[in-house]
Amino acid sequence: MSGKLWGGRFSEKEIDSKVMKFSSSLEVDKVLVEYDCIATKAHVGMLCKCGYISKDEKKQLTEALDFLLSKIKEGKVSFKGHEDIHSAVQAYVEKKAPKAAKKMHTGRSRNEQVVNDVRLYIKDAAKNIADLIECLQKALVDLAEKNRDIIIPGYTHLNRAQPVLFAHLMMAYVEMLERDFDRVLDAEARADTCVMGSGAIAGSALELDRKYVAEKLGFENISANSIDAVSDRDFITEFISALCFVAVHLSRMCEDLILYSAVEFGFLEIGSKYCTGSSLMPQKKNPDILELIRGRSAHLISALNTMFVLVKGLPHAYNRDLQEDKKPLFESVEGVSGSLEMMAGVISSITLNSETADEALEDEFIYATDIAEYLVCKGVAFADAHSVVGNIVKHCVDRGLNISDLSIAELKKFSGKLDEDVCKLLNSKMSVKNKKTFGSTNPEFVKKEISRWKKILQR
Ligand code: ARG
Repeated sequence: MSGKLWGGRFSEKEIDSKVMKFSSSLEVDKVLVEYDCIATKAHVGMLCKCGYISKDEKKQLTEALDFLLSKIKEGKVSFKGHEDIHSAVQAYVEKKAPKAAKKMHTGRSRNEQVVNDVRLYIKDAAKNIADLIECLQKALVDLAEKNRDIIIPGYTHLNRAQPVLFAHLMMAYVEMLERDFDRVLDAEARADTCVMGSGAIAGSALELDRKYVAEKLGFENISANSIDAVSDRDFITEFISALCFVAVHLSRMCEDLILYSAVEFGFLEIGSKYCTGSSLMPQKKNPDILELIRGRSAHLISALNTMFVLVKGLPHAYNRDLQEDKKPLFESVEGVSGSLEMMAGVISSITLNSETADEALEDEFIYATDIAEYLVCKGVAFADAHSVVGNIVKHCVDRGLNISDLSIAELKKFSGKLDEDVCKLLNSKMSVKNKKTFGSTNPEFVKKEISRWKKILQR
């Protein structure tokens, strides 16, 4: 049993330990401790500037908070038995400067304090994650550049579709990660609003300098409505949503890499550092890290769902339900940061088996579209060309033949427009080189894309 927090109006002055255990968020929100100290220092500075505390009180409070910050850095603080991190910091300062601490909470509420701390946390987390995305993009560009000539079968419906440069696939990942990068920073911009001065719901009757606090904490904006300020959690949901895109993109990349590293495809090897053996089967080299990244995305999707469900039925403004927003947020940040870091490592560890890819490209049906487009260039309507090549494929499949097993005379039975030069098309290098459109897998375009991205990633 301990003293009830802010419990003046209660006749029971003790808090039941089971109730405390159930309601305390300390184990989760202790992550916010540094933000809470920094924000409290700004608040204290503002109280002094506005004449609500003396210079000496400001000094005492600031020193206590700085001392706490230094102890945290040394890893020497462990809080226990508090309702949340805000009360824990308050209690810590009360011990150091009991009299001054009585004024520390002047003109503020935990309802705004928690929002403000989380906004500061997201601002930092977003920048870290954006950096990690860039590291992964660099690793991908590197791998693409090192393997610029390697061609693999491209798949649609997991059926061999058309030859593509392996580098083109890596650059596809770079593109999608760039959208993630933008989304993360967009969400960061929406978090960049200081809510201090909103009070519990209605603002404050004291003359508080909101601008001062916002500037001290490096916020770009100040919230314009105190009710919205304390009840809004969109900025968290939006940030988790941006992280969800990252997680889902990573998961899809994992799926590609797991498939392409399996013997059935065999196009690449993942560094053994990122693989594990089987406890039973001695031959196994399992891509566990990729599987875990893929699996972890499930938590992100749940976190986003949790946020929407959490807020959907809440009356304005603050409700304690909102305390439950932090676990999904912190877990999402941790999950995505770890996954990005691992993925960058995996990418740098990849080596390619071009012979296996070349073998797969000997299956000449993958050049069917090239032959159809060849016929289009000779004036055949596309639908007719499609049907001609379809008939050739069927003819070959029925007889267990490759297209190059047919003589020109045989080919001509399908279309008189097919000449000797069609044989040149049954080649992966020719296939990629023949691509004309910007954004295609043509090695010249891909090379330019690699240089363009190398420049962008110097930002
Ligand atoms: N731990 C609370 C949370 O995370 C802080 C705000 C508490 N406010 C209150 N009126 N009980 O939401």
